[in-house]
Amino acid sequence: MRPAERVRVDLGARGYDILIGPGLMRQLGSRVLDLTPARRLPIVTDSHVAGHHLPPLVASFEAAGLEPAPIILPPGEGSKDFATLQHLVSELLALDVSRKGLVLALGGGVIGDLAGFAAAILKRGVPFLQLPTTLLAMVDSSVGGKTAINVPAGKNLVGAFHQPAMVIADTDVLATLPDREMRAGYAEVVKYGLLGDAAFFAWLEAHGAGVLARSPPDLARAIATSVRAKARIVEQDEQETGDIRALLNLGHTFGHALEAETGFSDRLLHGEAVAIGMAQAFRFSARLGLCSTDDARRVEAHLAARGLATRLPLPAESLLRHMLHDKKRDERGLPFILVRGIGQAFVARDVPLQAVRAFLEAEERAA
Ligand code: NAD
Ligand code: GLY
Repeated sequence: MRPAERVRVDLGARGYDILIGPGLMRQLGSRVLDLTPARRLPIVTDSHVAGHHLPPLVASFEAAGLEPAPIILPPGEGSKDFATLQHLVSELLALDVSRKGLVLALGGGVIGDLAGFAAAILKRGVPFLQLPTTLLAMVDSSVGGKTAINVPAGKNLVGAFHQPAMVIADTDVLATLPDREMRAGYAEVVKYGLLGDAAFFAWLEAHGAGVLARSPPDLARAIATSVRAKARIVEQDEQETGDIRALLNLGHTFGHALEAETGFSDRLLHGEAVAIGMAQAFRFSARLGLCSTDDARRVEAHLAARGLATRLPLPAESLLRHMLHDKKRDERGLPFILVRGIGQAFVARDVPLQAVRAFLEAEERAA
């Protein structure tokens, strides 16, 4: 079966295809034969995903004469740590994965980041395949080569850039994804419209309900448009040395402070924090006179219509403190992604702290 959509990430020798559409997992066995001479293939996954999606994948590999070797890890952000990384690397070494082998990451962003990092450091770099199973992983974390684990000093602080050999997003797997996770991933889809593609945002206003209802054509179009936008950004600024890749952080500076204040817990998923953060980026930009209040209201209305919160009143001083510890802060200050309107984001490094404080205090009062 041909994928509904194919997007190329053009990075020369590190370039790869992203295949998107229903039914792709069932034919993965034969596709993998083109990617590696290895026959024993480690499939790194978590126990939630394994319960739903491992058996058909294993069957497809066995039908192609391959020897699948599942490595099932506990689900959740807690697995992105040194102990689990060490366990995973030991398992991969025990399977004798060679530098011509292939590590498969079957799961959400947690599995993709962890297995990708393990592949990056194993034998100084083994190819890996991203098989994203959450909407967030399909539109964001599986593409672009950022891999990492968390340490007590902060999230994603130990990692490497390691581009996958291919990304295969089988939209059928989203059938089992809880609705809340689906909505959180949808926030990252909206991000691509808001940061650089007003027409895509307008399309989402009309078709977002279809995306969340997992309509195959709507999903394929939303995912393909999102990853095409991410691919164009990653091609220009692969390792975020300039300000181009930083645009992907729209809503993240505010959102990260909210996640930190809520203890990176189930109280607020990453995508939910990004949705509130994007609404805040628009309200803040409107307050600074950079964009119209109509645009800010339109963004809030769309997020709310799709079941995402746009406000979370938390103490301004605490949020500010988290922002000052944000890992994106460097010698040039803390970058804010602001907007001149829908589809017109830019990086601002000269935002006065006093203006941020006044805005956060107004947000707290408005609650
Ligand atoms: P996740 O991987 O924890 O998945 C969310 C939950 O859904 C988990 O419980 C998981 O077991 C379950 N799940 C996954 N797929 C499922 C399916 N098809 N059916 C049923 N349940 C399923 O979370 P996530 O939101 O996918 O990823 C978050 C992680 O991604 C964070 O660690 C974040 O740092 C990282 N991230 C990385 C990048 C990057 O560029 N590398 C970008 C954004 C986020
Ligand atoms: N998720 C942000 C990035 O990939 O750069």
